[in-house]
Amino acid sequence: MQTATHATPGFADQKPGTSGLRKKTRVFLTPKYLETFVQAIFDATGGAAGRTYVVGGDGRYFNDRAVHVIVRMAAANGAARVIVGQGGILSTPAASHLIRLRGTDGGIILSASHNPGGIDEDFGIKFNMPNGGPAPEAVTEAIFARAKAAGDYKVVETGDVDLNALGETMLGQMVVEVVDPVADYATLMESLFDFAAIRAMFAGGFRMRFDAMHAVTGPYATEILERRLGAAPGTVINEVPLPDFGGGHPDPNPTWARALMEEMMGAGAPDFGAASDGDGDRNMIVGAGCYVSPSDSLAVLAEHATVAPGYAGGLKGIARSMPTSGAADRVAEALGIPAFETPTGWKFFGNLLDAGRATICGEESFGTGSDHVREKDGLWAVLLWLNILASTGKSVSQLLADHWARFGRTYYSRHDYEAVDKALADTLVADLRAALPGLPGQTFAGRAVASADDFAYTDPVDGSTSAQQGIRIGFEDGSRLVLRLSGTGTEGATLRLYLERYEPDPAKQAEEVQDALAPVIEAAEAIIGITARTGRPTPDVIT
Ligand code: G6P
Ligand code: ZN
Repeated sequence: MQTATHATPGFADQKPGTSGLRKKTRVFLTPKYLETFVQAIFDATGGAAGRTYVVGGDGRYFNDRAVHVIVRMAAANGAARVIVGQGGILSTPAASHLIRLRGTDGGIILSASHNPGGIDEDFGIKFNMPNGGPAPEAVTEAIFARAKAAGDYKVVETGDVDLNALGETMLGQMVVEVVDPVADYATLMESLFDFAAIRAMFAGGFRMRFDAMHAVTGPYATEILERRLGAAPGTVINEVPLPDFGGGHPDPNPTWARALMEEMMGAGAPDFGAASDGDGDRNMIVGAGCYVSPSDSLAVLAEHATVAPGYAGGLKGIARSMPTSGAADRVAEALGIPAFETPTGWKFFGNLLDAGRATICGEESFGTGSDHVREKDGLWAVLLWLNILASTGKSVSQLLADHWARFGRTYYSRHDYEAVDKALADTLVADLRAALPGLPGQTFAGRAVASADDFAYTDPVDGSTSAQQGIRIGFEDGSRLVLRLSGTGTEGATLRLYLERYEPDPAKQAEEVQDALAPVIEAAEAIIGITARTGRPTPDVIT
């Protein structure tokens, strides 16, 4: 078998964002583009010689071709073994688990997460470390430094290896091991949750709907919910993964999972609804007639986690991203455990989990997870909710009402303005940043500003720092707004405005969220002027 070395000019745009390198699929189809980034991963992490990697992706358009390229490049670079999900498929949490379970040197995950797929949509690639988590910034910077420089890449010149048949084959000196993408993950879930209790709840007539959004969780959810837990056939819908996600936007939020929302808000709604995203790491939770905001979901999961066998020993700490509401902090306080506030991006939880300082983590962006893997995990959150519902015998709305009565309610919403002109968005953020020192003491739309800063983070484990992670403005009544630019978009800029207001009085906890937040929304427009400056009358997405 021939190993070929090809020159690459390097690509100046291969800087990884919040979660790996994401681009339009056609950019990835540029000759040598994928190869340059893969070689950069190997080179920037000490070379592939003798190493073992997990490889797989969410099945979106180009996943199948890209997996073959990576396998051939790993062989050419001297890797000892690649462990590939059958058909090139692995959900992101399942890949994270495999990396840890098999003690590999890391993994390459192909996904653009919740972004649409197809030749005219998005594709992505990222490297995960031996701990199963996304590469930290120092590593992604090193990958970028290598990728943008001219150099060369290696690939074996051979036909495709069969990635559909389970088992091992040789590619030159390298073992290609094709594994069932679901089995090990399902076993892990069985070890964490009380499957018997959940099974009994389903047997008792509990009804659920899980929308896999034609993305990667279809096979996982069908196996776990319908086969192992006995949920009624048809519980999992849109369960066949498609390269273009059926033309949909595989993002589990009220906007993109509208059909599920309508069913859950309608008459005769099932007891519990959930959805997951393109690569299976996000989740949305809905009860009958009752949407659970991701920040509340994190807080409720943390409050009740010990009902699940995997967490019966208690939690070590709770971590949330800065724009996530403070609801989980109040649970941590009540439990007497530390609460951590990190920048947006799951990778920032890695050190806290590895150091045993946090057990459960969550983000407002529909991500929740724990120390069982080093990615957020959509089905994990769904199963922990099911375990809590089974163990407490309460409904979703009752659990929420009880939680708010005990801890107070944080009304919370995120307003996204998508595909905004990049230069305009940058100026808007720069202007706000420049205005920050003068804001405290001023009053906007009747609200006095108490604090205004740009979030900077120092990792408590390794001391690394990250600056400019989101502008936060706190008001004297405790309400807050945060503005940051998304790091995961592929078109123009996405402005994210996060709004929250704390309400301790149980008599005032049943308002419509947007109404409850109206004064904060008004203050945000008075301070930042998104509508005035972009001409956008309303957000594109409201969570
Ligand atoms: C991905 C990351 C999350 C992050 C989310 C939103 O899902 O894994 O950690 O919260 O994107 O990021 P963005 O930069 O678009 O707000
Ligand atoms: Zn995702």
